[in-house]
Amino acid sequence: MKVSLSVAIALAVCAFGSAAQTPAQAASPENGRKAFVTHGCWQCHGFEGQGSAVTSNGKVVANTELPLESFDAFVRSTNGAMPPFRETILSSGDLADIYAFLQSVPKPKDPKDIQLLK
Ligand code: HEC
Repeated sequence: MKVSLSVAIALAVCAFGSAAQTPAQAASPENGRKAFVTHGCWQCHGFEGQGSAVTSNGKVVANTELPLESFDAFVRSTNGAMPPFRETILSSGDLADIYAFLQSVPKPKDPKDIQLLK
């Protein structure tokens, strides 16, 4: 009885432990930065997602206010000036990392806080 109880506890601990080790990989801003470059997003959005004056309408995507689902949906199925990036060329993992990268770009200062502009 005592043995089987400790076996049960050990099993429970194992199950718990392995569950804790296998959540979906946390999104990586570092990998996202690389994927943003590899997939050419920078050509229209700038290396920091800051937008571009070279490409007409190269939107600012840094610190996007789009929730992840809308971001994914847009990138996968846009049919406007931006070409769609399907799962076959841009994995969901890389796209989630790109999102994390864009969220990690430091926000610009509020103009009200810039001494020279006061
Ligand atoms: C050929 C130029 C081009 C490339 C390459 C490109 N984009 Fe875009 N992107 C655009 C343009 C132009 C828009 C605005 C399009 C519109 O509103 O229909 C846009 C819009 C977006 C938006 C929506 C922004 C908003 O707030 O509405 C997101 C997000 C985005 N791009 C992400 C990406 C990502 C991620 C990549 C790389 C996987 C990428 N783009 C590659 C040109 C590009």
